[in-house]
Amino acid sequence: MRTLYVYLDFELLKPMKKFYYSICLSLITITAVAQMDAKLKVKLDQQVKELEPRMIEWRRYFHEHPELSNREVETGELIANQLKAMGLEVKYPVAKTGVVAILKGGKPGPVVALRADMDALPVTERNSLPFASKERVLFNGQETGVMHACGHDGHMAILLAVAEILSKNKSELKGTVKFIFQPAEEGAPASDGTSGAELMVKEGVLENPKVDAIFGLHIQSLVPSGKIAYRSGGLMASVDGVDIKVKGLGAHGATPWDSVDPITISGQIINGLQTIVSRQSELTKGAVVITVGSMHAGIRRNIIPEEALLEGTIRAFDDDMQRKVHADIIRTATKIAESAGAKAEVDIQIMYPATVNDLKLTLQMAPSLERAVGTENVMITLPVTMAEDFSFFQKKVPGFFFFLGAYPADMQLPKPPTHHTADFMIDEKAFASGVKAFLHLTLDYLNAPKK
Ligand code: NI
Repeated sequence: MRTLYVYLDFELLKPMKKFYYSICLSLITITAVAQMDAKLKVKLDQQVKELEPRMIEWRRYFHEHPELSNREVETGELIANQLKAMGLEVKYPVAKTGVVAILKGGKPGPVVALRADMDALPVTERNSLPFASKERVLFNGQETGVMHACGHDGHMAILLAVAEILSKNKSELKGTVKFIFQPAEEGAPASDGTSGAELMVKEGVLENPKVDAIFGLHIQSLVPSGKIAYRSGGLMASVDGVDIKVKGLGAHGATPWDSVDPITISGQIINGLQTIVSRQSELTKGAVVITVGSMHAGIRRNIIPEEALLEGTIRAFDDDMQRKVHADIIRTATKIAESAGAKAEVDIQIMYPATVNDLKLTLQMAPSLERAVGTENVMITLPVTMAEDFSFFQKKVPGFFFFLGAYPADMQLPKPPTHHTADFMIDEKAFASGVKAFLHLTLDYLNAPKK
């Protein structure tokens, strides 16, 4: 089944979507999809509209007061207070600076979790927005600005709005909603230890009550505002780090025959690593990326050094391929070094697994997205080689993660507003679509007839 769906999914284009559904539906049994009635939809749309100014206020507050990973203390307090004021059961702090709130519906039913990440980045904001960040911190011994340069300020504002609207419509809920505000998605300093989604899972955020499904979104600054993009299977890549220390023998640059040159060997290793991608990975199953982003060796042109250090990043979309790439890297690096009389020590740091959307859940919930924002605003996306620690939740329970376009077309920016840069910018008008998407996903999931 898995192989079949991966094949179909790669062939999938928007016009083929209906066809795709019908094939997959005939092959697997999925939970019937509930559909909220028209009257409720009109009421919710109206409530989203009324709450929009407040949601934008929240976002601007978060934007002006960004905090780095695991340092989201004021952010967490503000979120916890807002959720308490909505009458929710709130736990803070969770997993260092996170917030978890529970909303019990009027009737019994399953448990849905909705997740927003909270942290900002060490980036100095470059624009003239009245709510631009002026925060400054010392990061890795360097003074820098702090900025919500990935849209997490929007994620938090959207999820607060969803919490507010769902708590007003408690009687419509057959089940429970768990709101998860997660710190440290961007990766905390190593000295903090396990953090972010991984720590939340370890601390039992998906238990008591046990979560049946989890939904999450990420703003995309380059996708047209208000559009939603998703795919089943691998949406975002796994990410791992790799350090390769090549140990050779130093010599005078004029007599290389006296050396075991770690620089030349490093060059061969770098090329060898690329053949893992092009010759040894079954790329029709999913993409693989190996990038060597830094190389340190030597101090002077005529001294062959003793050692070289390569640092790289590895991306994949499938657990088996990820494991195979790791083994391939270790074998390739150590054998190439050995063939030249050197030694390579390979250290792979496992970071985030791939963000894989559960097939059954994706099929079940995609129609809800279309009803929330209109079929014309929902599209299928290609996989993205960035990573997301939402994947740790998906390792435990079926999860569905999607992108919310927020390209600020009417700002006529001189440069594309790329994530993690000083020029990052998003369109706040897109947030309403994110709220509607979460509302429809939650209500449709909770109200789906029992299997
Ligand atoms: Ni992000």
